[in-house]
Amino acid sequence: MDPRINVVEKRLEKVGRVIAVGGGKGGIGKSTIASLLALVLADSNQKVGLLDLDFTGASTHTILGIDDFHFPDEDKGIIPPKYHGISYITIANFTQDHVAPMRGLDITNAILEILAITRWDKLDYLIIDMPPGINDTTLDIIRLIKKIEFCIVTTPSKITTNVVKKSLELLEELNIQILGVIENMTFPATPYAKEVFEKCYLGTIPFDETYEHAIGDIDRLLDTVIVKTLRNLTELYDKMR
Ligand SMILES: Nc1ncnc2c1ncn2[C@@H]1O[C@H](COP(=O)(O)OP(=O)(O)OP(=O)(O)O)[C@@H](O)[C@H]1O
Ligand SMILES: [Mg+2]
Repeated sequence: MDPRINVVEKRLEKVGRVIAVGGGKGGIGKSTIASLLALVLADSNQKVGLLDLDFTGASTHTILGIDDFHFPDEDKGIIPPKYHGISYITIANFTQDHVAPMRGLDITNAILEILAITRWDKLDYLIIDMPPGINDTTLDIIRLIKKIEFCIVTTPSKITTNVVKKSLELLEELNIQILGVIENMTFPATPYAKEVFEKCYLGTIPFDETYEHAIGDIDRLLDTVIVKTLRNLTELYDKMR
């Protein structure tokens, strides 16, 4: 057995909840919700970490306006640098934001290595931004992180709903803890996702025209409808307590 697997549990010992933001489908707002949820939690004095596991499409640094990439400090492992109160690890730390194409086994190895070497401090929450698809990354973190929970993102689109529904069914079959489903980029008169995901529906985040202009600017992000809505998703926080 790979000796790093045992180390992963130890490295996450001081982390309260590990929440992966996924959904299976691409472009539905996973990175947006992962980044802004981390920001909202840090802004309300929670100890929070953010781990971007989208190696080919890392986006959380763009959303949070982080561009001073450097190899994290080392001390018996690597210490996640802090930005806006968030302990943060992204592949961009190691590649200076250049593309990092990887095949299946390389992805598994990179995830294992990052989880085995990162020294997360005492955290209330570690938020993980997942890549699109139910693929190696999903299967690996399910295997490696015993306390993983999934916050699933969907949109009002029937196409998204159909894909996300299957991802959710798979996670349920595997007995993975589901925090719930957030419907993102809603607009008036698109109510059917609530019925489809009824039992674990957490609420909606509307399509926010101001978001694009706020990306990379923390003050403007904190003022977006997305953040304001996220702060008020009581169903979400009830389940996070
Ligand atoms: N609530 C929202 N209002 C307006 N635009 C949004 C909202 N949520 C996400 N977007 C936009 O939708 C696009 C996809 O968002 P994001 O990158 O967060 O999705 P993703 O699911 O992480 O994508 P990928 O699967 O490629 O990782 C981006 O252009 C983002 O700015
Ligand atoms: Mg993304």
